[in-house]
Amino acid sequence: MRIICVDNYEQMSKKAANIVASQIILKPNSVLGLATGSTPLGMYKQLIKTYEAGHIDFQEVTTFNLDEYYGLSRDNKQSYYYYMYENFFKHTNIDMRKVNIPNGMAKDINEECCEYEKKIRKSGGIDLQVLGIGRNGHIGFNEPDIKFEATTHMVKLDEQTIKDNSRFFKSIDEVPTSAISMGIKTIMQSRKIILLASGEEKADAVNGAVNGKITPELPASVLQLHPDVTFIVDKEAASKLDLEKIKKDYC
Ligand code: GLP
Repeated sequence: MRIICVDNYEQMSKKAANIVASQIILKPNSVLGLATGSTPLGMYKQLIKTYEAGHIDFQEVTTFNLDEYYGLSRDNKQSYYYYMYENFFKHTNIDMRKVNIPNGMAKDINEECCEYEKKIRKSGGIDLQVLGIGRNGHIGFNEPDIKFEATTHMVKLDEQTIKDNSRFFKSIDEVPTSAISMGIKTIMQSRKIILLASGEEKADAVNGAVNGKITPELPASVLQLHPDVTFIVDKEAASKLDLEKIKKDYC
């Protein structure tokens, strides 16, 4: 595990965007795993700038998003499909046929999940997965007590997550209570992972993920077992980490 500690959100976003850009430069047909939430928004903005400056090309890139709310259609403004299109895809030359996001309106959820897994495998697997982290340590929508062996599946959202994500909705009652999410096993099969965290409210989850026991109670702790994972955290998110110890252990 590598930990990159930066001063603020902007630096976190730039570092993350540079890593994604390098991935695309080195392998133009990269398969990217993408995340939503407020954390990666700055990274997407930076990537758009890098694209506009002519440094990267998305034409051959394939993407798989981590998750989607159950019951929200693509054109629903709160759906992750809408988020990805508005905040990122429409500003790039990505081929929308190479964009994959679970279908929150799928009639047969099991089939949707199996097909998603098959598509990831058929694409050759995820080269670089971008993650955020929930306050409760969730990654994707893998809530505490998830089974580590889970692949893409339907999840019931934690009360904490519903509360946290209600800021994007008119009222808490509008927040879907379930979602389709890549599982921990799917995430762990990615070749490389970067996890972004910003703000004091993520400090406990980040500390648990880095220093805590590896336990389904804190899903992100499983990342300690991944051979190529980098945390990019700002000062506030890193505030519970012992940075001296980390320098010795991880740098
Ligand atoms: C959501 C997403 C996660 C994201 C997390 C943190 O629940 N499913 O992928 O990492 O929230 O969100 P934020 O970045 O807004 O704090």
